[in-house]
Amino acid sequence: MPGSRPEVDSTAAPIALITGASDGIGAALAVEYARRGWRLVLVARRLPALEQTARACGLEGDTRRLRLVACDVRDVDHVRREADALLRDWGCPQVVVANAGISWGVDLSDPGDLDVAIDIMDVNWTGALATLAPFVAPMRQRGSGTLVGIASVAGVRGLPCHAAYCASKAALIRSLESLRVELRPRGVRVVTISPGYVATAMTAGNRFAMPFLLTPQQFAARAVHAIDAGRAYATIPWQMGILGMFLHVVPRAIYDRAVGFYGRKQRKPDCGPCRGMPRRNRRVHRRLPPVDTV
Ligand SMILES: NC(=O)c1ccc[n+]([C@@H]2O[C@H](COP(=O)([O-])OP(=O)(O)OC[C@H]3O[C@@H](n4cnc5c(N)ncnc54)[C@H](OP(=O)(O)O)[C@@H]3O)[C@@H](O)[C@H]2O)c1
Repeated sequence: MPGSRPEVDSTAAPIALITGASDGIGAALAVEYARRGWRLVLVARRLPALEQTARACGLEGDTRRLRLVACDVRDVDHVRREADALLRDWGCPQVVVANAGISWGVDLSDPGDLDVAIDIMDVNWTGALATLAPFVAPMRQRGSGTLVGIASVAGVRGLPCHAAYCASKAALIRSLESLRVELRPRGVRVVTISPGYVATAMTAGNRFAMPFLLTPQQFAARAVHAIDAGRAYATIPWQMGILGMFLHVVPRAIYDRAVGFYGRKQRKPDCGPCRGMPRRNRRVHRRLPPVDTV
């Protein structure tokens, strides 16, 4: 009919799978891909929070364009079963983003914190590889697709009280690099994205200055741009990339002295040295809109 909008064939729309989509960066990435008309597979443990992301995407109840998966990425068998079901029902996604992550400070002199450290590795490294693994063979066979890992500038060098988080992100960066060189000749792109500071629940408790702090929406727009471009490694914002490059090359003698003054990440649930830190970025967090008002 003249003037009427053509029916969009949602079964032909590209698919993005995003873990950690119930909050923060993952939810903002979901909104960004929804705006572009993609089909979405959103993964996290909390189903009600995933449903909130679905509302923010304007896709609530749209089973042709949306799949919500309540799953703990540490449960690698469950992740594999969900991936197999997706491959069977919808086919292989164009983009898979391993974003789910946790961050706590650890004090290894406290025996309980070893469990926290193991948990951080399980979610941030094992969970990320478990997310990407089921799609390696289908993408390789198809000769296209993009595997994305959300790492961190914290993966570049070790930070005080951050022995587990820094290690988990360093491990992820290396694993993604390994995959990247392995899959490049087969047409599959592997993109590593290292956020600087993004105002989410993860950073809300930080009691130290967070330079170049971005909203999740600002971050997501730039991240999708980097994914589109197939960037091998992107630090967002770029200013933190400069800092990352500097951190990478600064000699240990200087680094060790300087970084001792850096703010400590809070332990789970809290620790003495953290309580002594000023809460300079609290104001910024209060100003940010929740994701469902985007
Ligand atoms: N915010 C920053 O400044 C910053 C900086 C550098 C890197 N990053 C990285 O960016 C990613 C997203 O962080 P964010 O700031 O958006 O954090 P966030 O707001 O705390 O969100 C974390 C997300 O991960 C999910 N998640 C946590 N554990 C999970 C598990 N075991 N299984 C499945 N999902 C799980 C959470 O959902 P459920 O609780 O519902 O499971 C939530 O959706 C993380 O990998 C983080 O390390 C963030």
